[in-house]
Amino acid sequence: MIYIKTEFVALIVMMTLSTSAQSARADNAYMTQYQRAVQGAIANLLPNGAVIASPSHSNPDYYYDWVRDTSLTMKTLIQLQLDSHLSALAKKDIARRIDRWVDWELARQETPTKLTDQGEPRFYVDGRANREPWGRPQNDGPALRALATIELANQWIQQGHLDWVKAKLYKGVIPANTLIKRDLEYVAHHWGESSYDLWEEERAMHYYTLTAQMVALTKGAKLAKVMDDNGGATFYGQQAVAIQNYLKLFIDPNTGIIKYAINKVVPLPHKKSPLDVAVLLIANQTFDGKYYVPMKETVATMNALTKVFKNIYPINKDTKLPNGQPLGTAIGRYPEDVYSGFDFGGGNPWFISTLALAEFACNMDKAGYAPGQHQQLRNLAMAQFNRVLKHLPPNGTMSEQFRRDNGFEQGAHDLTWSYTSYITAYRACF
Ligand code: NOJ
Ligand code: NOJ
Repeated sequence: MIYIKTEFVALIVMMTLSTSAQSARADNAYMTQYQRAVQGAIANLLPNGAVIASPSHSNPDYYYDWVRDTSLTMKTLIQLQLDSHLSALAKKDIARRIDRWVDWELARQETPTKLTDQGEPRFYVDGRANREPWGRPQNDGPALRALATIELANQWIQQGHLDWVKAKLYKGVIPANTLIKRDLEYVAHHWGESSYDLWEEERAMHYYTLTAQMVALTKGAKLAKVMDDNGGATFYGQQAVAIQNYLKLFIDPNTGIIKYAINKVVPLPHKKSPLDVAVLLIANQTFDGKYYVPMKETVATMNALTKVFKNIYPINKDTKLPNGQPLGTAIGRYPEDVYSGFDFGGGNPWFISTLALAEFACNMDKAGYAPGQHQQLRNLAMAQFNRVLKHLPPNGTMSEQFRRDNGFEQGAHDLTWSYTSYITAYRACF
């Protein structure tokens, strides 16, 4: 334990030193919170490779490894380790954590669960499957995990370590016995089946899940080719195209808005509108310099989400900071949400949702999707950052939600995914 602590402190010091070189790039408050977010996410990685969703053991109990939260976080760290501002020591530390995580996930794929296959949403941090009643399967998990591990495989290949990839990540054999191949096989064979959404509430065909699956298979097909698995490459490519066609059904032809789900099997009675921030999250989470989602419709959906949340959260009445800077819109999961973070007392804005607007605006701008709108998109992004910073306590810890009425943090404290979303938004915008 002492060893881990020392190692952790060393990493943070190195990060602080190395990111201070960026001070020309960013105003202090935004950057200080970035450093805090990196620390916050890393503090939730356990020595055995597991990633806790939050250190909170009760009210709510988030002391589990959720495949989704973990995959998004590890993908972010996999990208972060290429950052030229990072010290050699910090790089090495992150690389070691990624290695441990790869072994953790290989073991999870082989852990018996209540299901017969992948798709189990979360595990105890000692690796055992959780057997409580829960919304399962959640088929975004294997797809998001593949998006992270494919990124890692591509890095390793570029660094000349094809042998590492073959040993753990990708070998073109059936039955699959490597991390990526197993996930791609699962995704390619099961995407046509309904599953529970990222919010773990509704069994349906979900836009979020299908987009993750489509992009995982698209990128997986490319990797398969590099790994001389031509059969796999063809099959994954075909399934990706089939999903792409299916995804067209989610666009409402009258409004141009993307519906978060179709063909509901176990619907949530109170979730009536087609709007869900999941549509925006997955646009960001699959962006790699280019978008894999229909842009005009994604923008329309973002605007519609902003409009409803403006009206339903009292804190959104304030649109300016005392110093006159713009204050963006606090965004929740979906308009009818009642999950308060530990009971059903009413939904609130989430950090991941509020930051998603900033990330989307900045990447759209940087990647050339919105010519002539540079200033407008920057303003939008900065307003969203201001909104988030306004509701953080002085030490910068990030919970899951902040209250719709007074802006104070609520729900699981130190939520890994909140930190991750700050890291990805910051890296898109600064
Ligand atoms: C915890 C889930 O993870 C959350 O998304 C959901 O809203 C509540 N349980 C209620 O089902
Ligand atoms: C509840 C959220 O709805 C879900 O998306 C997340 O995976 C878990 N909490 C863990 O953070």
